[in-house]
Amino acid sequence: MKRVLSGIRATGRLHLGNYLGAVKGMLELANSNEYETFYMVADLHTLTTPYDKKTLSQSVRDVIVDYLAVGLAPEKSTLFVQSHVPEHLELAYYFSTVTTVAKMQHLPTFKDKAKQYPEHVTMALLNYPVLMAADILVYKAELVPVGTDQEPHLEVAREIARRMNQDYGTDFPEPKRFATNGEYVPSLTGEGKMSKTVEGSYINLTDDLSTIKSKVARIPTDEGKGSEILGGVKTLMEFVELFEGKEERERLEGLYRTSGIRYSEIKNELSKAIFKELAPIQNRRAELEKDREYVDKVIRGGAEKARAVARQTVAEVRRKMGLG
Ligand code: TYM
Repeated sequence: MKRVLSGIRATGRLHLGNYLGAVKGMLELANSNEYETFYMVADLHTLTTPYDKKTLSQSVRDVIVDYLAVGLAPEKSTLFVQSHVPEHLELAYYFSTVTTVAKMQHLPTFKDKAKQYPEHVTMALLNYPVLMAADILVYKAELVPVGTDQEPHLEVAREIARRMNQDYGTDFPEPKRFATNGEYVPSLTGEGKMSKTVEGSYINLTDDLSTIKSKVARIPTDEGKGSEILGGVKTLMEFVELFEGKEERERLEGLYRTSGIRYSEIKNELSKAIFKELAPIQNRRAELEKDREYVDKVIRGGAEKARAVARQTVAEVRRKMGLG
């Protein structure tokens, strides 16, 4: 069976960008029964930018609980914590021997983070894509459900796979991104993408209806009529499409270009549609939070299953690279 791997960093509550860009694809592939799916919490990647060591383990757990709450099942998918499978780190080291520093320094994702955290431009940050390649290739995964922002990292993973196969005769696949409709969820501010680090840009999976309403109300709009759909209005229309369908978007855009639209109603309907999708997830989350033992068991079982596969790949790479 073909394998799938994806991961989310433990940097706080999941937002609609993570949900639509990554989690929905993870669910689709897990439920297709055509793939063996591995979904992790990327706690090692969380260390590449400033973080709080006191809350890290809770944040890691929160992502596992989110995975369960959205409907990922440990019977179908291996749900685990990245640092529980140290083979990822070992493989990342071997991969770093076929990766140039110059290539890593030129990646847009590295440049963005270096600009955002000028005091934390560390070796770990530079190595981020190499560790991500190891995450994927240690399972020889062919499909990776992630948003468009991760495409440069997947390109690095493909290059590493090619180099390793050429130089050492390994059989790594060249992993491809699995895209969802929400592969690029815009920021509520009307500029750029939805992101945990941009205040006012996101809706969390845990937000209640009134929080969602007030966040949606702040999407910048105009007089409701015009020939071109831009900025915050475009963002609003994208959310309408994601939560109420393409037809509703087309209907509203048609009205915008002719008689005009009223934002209060549209925003109200959209907020309700978003909450309708999130409410069942929130209910399941509340149940899961009561059951610590179950969540612990999932985390332990996931690590065991993941390690069994990861060990084999690392042993093969060591042998092919001439290590004893
Ligand atoms: P992270 O935690 O930054 O993001 C998790 C996932 O959410 C997606 N995402 C978005 N998708 C659409 N629109 C948005 N506005 C948006 N914001 C976030 C991201 O594309 C991602 O899929 N490097 C990864 C974590 C990782 C990983 C891996 C992923 C580590 N190793 C191996 C896949 C395979 C990341 O930055 O996640």
